[in-house]
Amino acid sequence: MKQTVLITGASSGFGLMLANKLHAEGHTVIGTSRDPQKYAGKVPFKLLRLDIDDDASIEAFPSELFQHIRKLDVLVNNAGYMVTGLAEETPLDVARQQFETNFWGTVKVTNAILPYFRKQRSGKLITVSSIVALIGPPNLSFYSASKHAVEGYFKSLRFELNPFNIKVSMVEPVWFKTNLGSNAVTASSGSIADYDTYRRKANAATQKGIDDAEAPDAVVAKISDLVNAKEPKFSNPVGKMVGMFLFLQSYAPKMFEGSILKSVSKAA
Ligand SMILES: NC(=O)c1ccc[n+]([C@@H]2O[C@H](COP(=O)([O-])OP(=O)(O)OC[C@H]3O[C@@H](n4cnc5c(N)ncnc54)[C@H](OP(=O)(O)O)[C@@H]3O)[C@@H](O)[C@H]2O)c1
Repeated sequence: MKQTVLITGASSGFGLMLANKLHAEGHTVIGTSRDPQKYAGKVPFKLLRLDIDDDASIEAFPSELFQHIRKLDVLVNNAGYMVTGLAEETPLDVARQQFETNFWGTVKVTNAILPYFRKQRSGKLITVSSIVALIGPPNLSFYSASKHAVEGYFKSLRFELNPFNIKVSMVEPVWFKTNLGSNAVTASSGSIADYDTYRRKANAATQKGIDDAEAPDAVVAKISDLVNAKEPKFSNPVGKMVGMFLFLQSYAPKMFEGSILKSVSKAA
């Protein structure tokens, strides 16, 4: 069935690929960007302005959205970015901003759309979380914490939305080639000399993850399956190694932690 889908962060990466795919399949797609003018005439779907850090932008958004569509079937919470760096060296304002976008921005957009989903007694909320919401790699503490927060929030919220026939799903990708790496904020101040060697190795290990990333098609296909599914699953990890990571973490935690420590010690 053709659906009307709102995708935040549709100017780049997963959001852009997903919007193009769903549009080509005949769904009605509305995407968002902080600067839609930059992409005018370059995307086949409607791109509206939304800054998920800005309360006024979010408050004004639904009335603009419903000038273009009558009914919304699916919200894909995709907009986000990544802070990298050692936790103790990360300035608190940088860490707070990571939560402001990835956690609070996602919560606020969800709250802006939920009244419409409740009123129509249907809707699908799909949120792009991350494998770092299920495991905790070094050098990504605040990114990982922001995604754990998102995951925990929707884990609870899904039960509250059950009476309204609103389905909630998370997508938890490993590393995929998008602009996430080039848009990342590198937060290590380099101020604590004790970390000098570890910082170099941890940065190299993070960079290796970004460099070795998979093509994003599997994530886009997974989200597209969830858009079309009657009974979408809540948790949807995606990536070649994801099954092994989660298996080892649950059933061989020492081996799993050892492999993370080794990947950093071997780097650079
Ligand atoms: N790539 C990966 O390996 C990976 C793995 C796990 C999870 N993820 C998650 O996947 C999602 C999409 O990221 P991506 O990998 O596709 O990266 P990307 O290519 O950098 O795309 C990020 C998108 O988010 C939007 N965005 C960023 N900050 C925003 C803000 N404050 N307000 C509104 N929009 C904002 C950007 O739009 P504008 O700049 O046009 O506003 C852009 O369209 C993110 O939530 C990311 O954490 C990515």
